[in-house]
Amino acid sequence: MTDAILLEREGGLLTLRLNRPDKKNALTRAMYSQLGTALQQADSDPEIKAVLITGSLQCFTAGNDIADFLQEPPSDLDSPVFQFMRSLLECRKPVVAAVAGAAVGIGTTLLLHCDLVYVSADAKLRMPFVNLGLCPEFGSSLILPRLLGQAKAAELLLLGEAFTGEQAAAWGIASQALPSAEATFAKAREMALRFDQLPPEAVRISKQLMKAPDRELLRRVVEEEGKLFVQRLRSPEALAALSGFLKR
Ligand code: COA
Repeated sequence: MTDAILLEREGGLLTLRLNRPDKKNALTRAMYSQLGTALQQADSDPEIKAVLITGSLQCFTAGNDIADFLQEPPSDLDSPVFQFMRSLLECRKPVVAAVAGAAVGIGTTLLLHCDLVYVSADAKLRMPFVNLGLCPEFGSSLILPRLLGQAKAAELLLLGEAFTGEQAAAWGIASQALPSAEATFAKAREMALRFDQLPPEAVRISKQLMKAPDRELLRRVVEEEGKLFVQRLRSPEALAALSGFLKR
């Protein structure tokens, strides 16, 4: 395992820390594979009670590595990014996120599938899929209109408007916004460690109940979005926008 993903254990808490500071924690295929494997192992390890996903105090993640998108775009729904997100969507243990700095693209999308999300009030979240010639992914086209209403969700998904951690908490995307990155990390750790003291089977059943009503619909939407996303990545619109970013 390279050090672009750091695995840390504290009691029953497994922390997955994105650690690629020179590229703003942009996620590569290798990183998705490591994250997916770690989540699956955590899910089946009775000693692990919760998983915390985080980045650095400066940056959560700039989203999918754009060079990877051009050189080795996901070709089907078994690609590493899909395996990682499937592991997250199907994870039976509670998953907590701690977000400071930028959370772009999948960095925002993945928060929709965490159970508890703590954000720095000045964190900057954004899903610029349309701006890059792409489309929403991993259930965001279902979850965000339901959570925010069509009109607000359209600002985020059709225009790719950025929003703050404070807004994310007000809209129910995050559990709570904290005044600093340090306070965010401390709060997320404190809340994630609470699962060490709770009966794991009761936690598991309760999470399952919360997810069950939408599970089949979500799986179908994720598949539909995924097929379109894979097609969009090869479209002239996306190729121009993605190469434009790298040529800045
Ligand atoms: N993929 C690949 N490389 C990325 C990247 C990404 N998603 N995001 C940032 N980087 C790289 C930059 O190319 C730069 O590399 P370099 O130093 O070798 O030139 C380095 O990370 C630092 O990025 P920079 O843009 O200079 O940092 P910043 O603090 O000014 O801005 C962001 C940070 C996250 C706001 C900005 O990098 C950004 O918008 N990234 C793209 C986000 C995106 O569109 N993601 C894809 C969603 S599908």
